Amino acid sequence: MPAARISGVGMYVPPKVVRNDDLRAFYDTSDEWIYTRSGIKERRWAEEPASTAELGYYAAQEALQAAGKKAVDLDLIIFATLSPDLYFPGSGVLLQQKLGLETTPALDIRQQCSGFVYGLSIADQFIRTGMYRTILLVGAEVQSTWIDYAPEGRTVGVLFGDGAGAVVIEATEALGRGIRSSHLYSQGAYAMELCIAEPSSATRRHILPGSYGMRPYMNGKEVFRHAVQRMGEAIQVALSTQNWHPNEVDLYVLHQANIRIVQAVAEFFGLPMDKFFNNIHKYGNTTAASIPICLYEAQAEGRLKAGDKVILAAFGSGFTWGSVALIW
Ligand code: ACO
Repeated sequence: MPAARISGVGMYVPPKVVRNDDLRAFYDTSDEWIYTRSGIKERRWAEEPASTAELGYYAAQEALQAAGKKAVDLDLIIFATLSPDLYFPGSGVLLQQKLGLETTPALDIRQQCSGFVYGLSIADQFIRTGMYRTILLVGAEVQSTWIDYAPEGRTVGVLFGDGAGAVVIEATEALGRGIRSSHLYSQGAYAMELCIAEPSSATRRHILPGSYGMRPYMNGKEVFRHAVQRMGEAIQVALSTQNWHPNEVDLYVLHQANIRIVQAVAEFFGLPMDKFFNNIHKYGNTTAASIPICLYEAQAEGRLKAGDKVILAAFGSGFTWGSVALIW
């Protein structure tokens, strides 16, 4: 049975940097509040007419080049996003068309911050069964367009950024490389604790044209508590399945929602923070893009080498969460 290995990584973030102090144009906030509570210093915002599929396209091109592949080599595109270009169809088909492909299947997944981990697991299944050999997985978001710029939107608005990450996943017969296990979970009982409930198919008909906007809602404390516990559990399952000691793992890459969540997970396992790759200070929470952007930068900084033991973990809206254990 072939294993699934990440053979190329790409990323793209829009050039416009928005520093914490810049947000004071909309919100009663401060660099000190944002940085001490989340670890974020700045984020990127896409400028018109950028779309999620477009950001994903730039990241995908780089990932394909890194893997030494062309778009025509792809058997499947998986597109993870909570901010699709359109209500429907998904951004995957828009990316497929941008890549110049004619009939390559494109699958959108809606797992929010866990989208990349879910996407890796899906790719792994297709490769293990032998159905596909080369898959593109993109995590991309344009979130600056759903942020609530009204004063009461500040708690959520300061946390999110735009960006894209992409990986090419290939079948390999080389023993000891690639995805070793993936572990996925969700709990819809908490769906409304972190959501954008409007506009929706359920509510839109009641709202007058022009009168609605996006109203993201997050129960920050509840999300924080669950994120620490659930990512901790998902990492523990990955460690036990692989029979790895926490210290034996070369690099942990956790979804970048809040540096304090990563610190709490590190503390739970008694691990130093240098075992974790973080870049939230530069990009904020880029949702489905955060883990592949981390992978790209970790590799560029020499922190991911062939044969390294790696654990990825994510938690987000849904609630959804999960982990992946892999050998780089
Ligand atoms: N600037 C200044 N003050 C603010 C801001 C802001 N941007 N936002 C809120 N405040 C105020 C609040 O109104 C509150 O004031 P009060 O005490 O007078 O009522 C005070 O700051 C404290 O707010 P808390 O909510 O208690 O702050 P907390 O320490 O919980 O931090 C935070 C908030 C950063 C949101 C945290 O709860 C968190 O990180 N939660 C998890 C986020 C997360 O993991 N998201 C994950 C996934 S995202 C996805 O899946 C799409």
